[in-house]
Amino acid sequence: MAILIRGGTVIDANETYRADVLCNDSASGGAIAQIGADLEAPAGATVIDAGGQYVMPGGIDPHTHMELPFMGTTASDDFYTGTAAGLSGGTTSIIDFVIPSPKQPLMSAFEEWRGWAEKAAADYGFHVAVTWWDESVHRDMGTLVHEHGVSSFKHFMAYKNAIMADDEVLVNSFMRALELGALPTVHAENGELVFRLQRELLARGFTGPEAHPLSRPPEVEGEAANRAIRIAQVLGVPVYIVHVSAKDALDAIIRARSEGQRVFGEVLAGHLVIDESVYRDTDWGRAAAHVMSPPFRTQQHRDALWHGLQAGHLHTTATDHCVFCASQKAMGREDFTKIPNGCGGVEDRMSVLWHHGVNTGRLTPNEFVRVTSTNAAQIFNLYPRKGAVAVGADADLVVWDPQATKTISVATHHQNVDFNVFEGMTVKGVATHTITRGHLAWADGDLRAQRGAGRYLKRPPNPAYFEAVRVANRLKEVEPVAR
Ligand code: URP
Ligand code: ZN
Ligand code: ZN
Ligand code: ZN
Repeated sequence: MAILIRGGTVIDANETYRADVLCNDSASGGAIAQIGADLEAPAGATVIDAGGQYVMPGGIDPHTHMELPFMGTTASDDFYTGTAAGLSGGTTSIIDFVIPSPKQPLMSAFEEWRGWAEKAAADYGFHVAVTWWDESVHRDMGTLVHEHGVSSFKHFMAYKNAIMADDEVLVNSFMRALELGALPTVHAENGELVFRLQRELLARGFTGPEAHPLSRPPEVEGEAANRAIRIAQVLGVPVYIVHVSAKDALDAIIRARSEGQRVFGEVLAGHLVIDESVYRDTDWGRAAAHVMSPPFRTQQHRDALWHGLQAGHLHTTATDHCVFCASQKAMGREDFTKIPNGCGGVEDRMSVLWHHGVNTGRLTPNEFVRVTSTNAAQIFNLYPRKGAVAVGADADLVVWDPQATKTISVATHHQNVDFNVFEGMTVKGVATHTITRGHLAWADGDLRAQRGAGRYLKRPPNPAYFEAVRVANRLKEVEPVAR
């Protein structure tokens, strides 16, 4: 059935205007068919009354980990439950991560994740992590880019003795990414320092979650961000820093950008609003439920992150959605380093960003669209199919009531986990309807997500900024002296 959204105000990255939006049915492509005044509803169309509401591009969460096998257990939201929860909050696409174990061929990990993701209710793409290096990794990166629509690779600078990439891996992989026109991304924390600090804290008798942030101080993140950025600068490749949580890392990004380097930054909804004092909660379960890396930080860092987002030094907002139930977190009851790392938010990101961003005057509604959708689509080469309200774009839309409120709670959320890091937060600005490729998946509190309806998003290499970097690299080339 076609869907007509009537009487709303369209907000995209650049414009705000009154228009009706007609969406083709998912069965006939699920694209936006028409945008204009007083559109006729085709016979049988579902009509959504959007009077007083906004019509925006569906959210893109460029950083999630559905059903991730990690630290001896598996994240409890799978590709179906996680994407369905996202739809209920206005998020219509995710970019998740294929994470090969050391020595696992990239292609075998990729096929494994593709299989798991078939149950997704919303569209999804993949970044692929480079966790080790040999000639087969070099070759598989090419296959992934040329045949499978993977155009970004992830590097964990933390998690020593597991998936950590050392400088040799980073340099090899960044050079290969440059060749392929694919964007290298990094989790920036100095894994050696984290490892040493963890050992030291345990030796001093720190076994609880309060030791988690002590083992991952801001400097550890700043060092790694700066190292990744400098490596990228020397090699002449753009780079994207995931989950920037510390002013130290942001400062490295700002310095590089102010010197003309092409660096992108991502910030998580949680890092913008949650304080590090959560780790000193006397209730072990609540403190452990907040264990994620990098950790939540102080107000000083949160202020810097908001300013970075406002100033355009940080480009995307994500969640790093990677949830574990209390029984899973309990694996680290005697040793904080064994608490599975990860928190949720795929359902709540849009409302948290609107409430704390738009309602506080930090972001305009158009800027909100940029940081929740359009920028991710452009950086990860999904634009304008995603991230735009435009004829021919996928009908991935959210109808947004800026006056509606809700109180976030584990009791009412759709995420498959027994905790919510935003518990008790009342937010003003709520998705009333979410449309995913022409299918109405969320309507006034009714979740109609369809298992398996999500499609894999192929993302071609060489977005425009990559060509710009190549031009700049060519102009910097010098010749040997002829003697
Ligand atoms: O603690 C986190 N963030 N868990 C998921 C893996 C990662 O580092 O992104
Ligand atoms: Zn990470
Ligand atoms: Zn992550
Ligand atoms: Zn449908």
